[in-house]
Amino acid sequence: MNVVVGITGGIAAYKAVSVVRALVLAGHEVNVVATPNALKFVGRPTLEAISHRPVHSDLYEGVTEVRHVFIGQAADLIVVAPATANTIAKLAAGLADDLLGNTILASTAPLVIAPAMHTEMWENPATQANIAALRERGVVIVGPDSGQLTGADVGPGRMAEPEAIVAAALRAVAERSDLVGKRILVTAGGTREPIDPVRFIGNRSSGKQGLAIAKAAAARGAEVTLIAANLEVAVPASLTVVRVSSTEELAAATTEAAPEADAIIMAAAVADYRPEKVSAAKIKKDDAESLTLRLVRTPDILSSLSERRTAGQVVIGFAAETEPDDAKRLELGRTKIARKGCDYLVLNRVGATEGFATDRNTVVVINAAGDIVSEASGTKQSVADKILDLLLTPWSDS
Ligand code: CTP
Repeated sequence: MNVVVGITGGIAAYKAVSVVRALVLAGHEVNVVATPNALKFVGRPTLEAISHRPVHSDLYEGVTEVRHVFIGQAADLIVVAPATANTIAKLAAGLADDLLGNTILASTAPLVIAPAMHTEMWENPATQANIAALRERGVVIVGPDSGQLTGADVGPGRMAEPEAIVAAALRAVAERSDLVGKRILVTAGGTREPIDPVRFIGNRSSGKQGLAIAKAAAARGAEVTLIAANLEVAVPASLTVVRVSSTEELAAATTEAAPEADAIIMAAAVADYRPEKVSAAKIKKDDAESLTLRLVRTPDILSSLSERRTAGQVVIGFAAETEPDDAKRLELGRTKIARKGCDYLVLNRVGATEGFATDRNTVVVINAAGDIVSEASGTKQSVADKILDLLLTPWSDS
């Protein structure tokens, strides 16, 4: 595994040598990215001898190989030990004013940080808010331990022991690789039903939640096919994407890909009706005061995928409801899952200001019996991971 060990400027940097050594002895390729301040605490030759590789520190070295993004893109795991209060604040804000900041921003690998600082700095509300923000984004925080600090003082702030940091880091990777070997089909976005060559009936789905699921599944090792209906967000080049627009195209693409999938996640917002006739030319208003469009039902893709699902295949549907009352919304979900026949239904409340195009989401997941099996609230990325966790239970039994 390609591990980046980020070292920042705190006295505990001397213990980072043991973190590097343990990872090297465990057979990993370790690339040290040290901030200039870290190198005031621990020598470059020490780190290079222990890691058997050059230590990177300067943002403006290796520019021809675009090192500031390459190191992060190639990493399977990033461990920052020690992480100073300053570095933690920069990570929380997404700053990239040094090589380590750039490396972390350019990476989708699990990030494990080991804070080290004086107790007052650790307990400061600013640091605590930064830690909470990082944790919500899925960053693993190891420690700090409580004990003797650099001065005469004793308290929480000591960097966790190197063995504990390495163990937590390797665990984070193992947990993130829990979908290796699984093929997951995800639909995202919203379908558009053409009226004439310039108009369509669409919906407000941006595709953010579906894309977050596809990205999270790929990051956890799954082989992902994303069927994207008019996404308003960019799709990383690493994902296999089939672009569609109408419900008919979405139905054809999902039906074709479904038999190969271990799980199908229907996050796309699908039009229930389409214009019966699509005008070949732009519809003119002429003198008409009103216009009637006759709409006909589209096929229910989720119901037919559920009906035709293969042995062991897990099918997850979504239900966006405007009903504000939680209990009533749950009842709507129960009726819907019975009608759709899928294994799980992810229920979320939508409205003028909720659900669509935002970066956060709140969902409740029910199973075929109508019981609540999971609840998640937070970034669409963290909600995506919670939804993917549903897949682990049936597969661990099989
Ligand atoms: N869905 C589908 N095909 C359709 C309509 C919806 O596959 N023609 C899927 C969606 O992708 C979603 C689930 O069914 O996973 C529920 O979609 P939703 O729009 O909430 O439900 P509807 O079937 O449209 O039910 P209703 O209109 O009664 O809310």
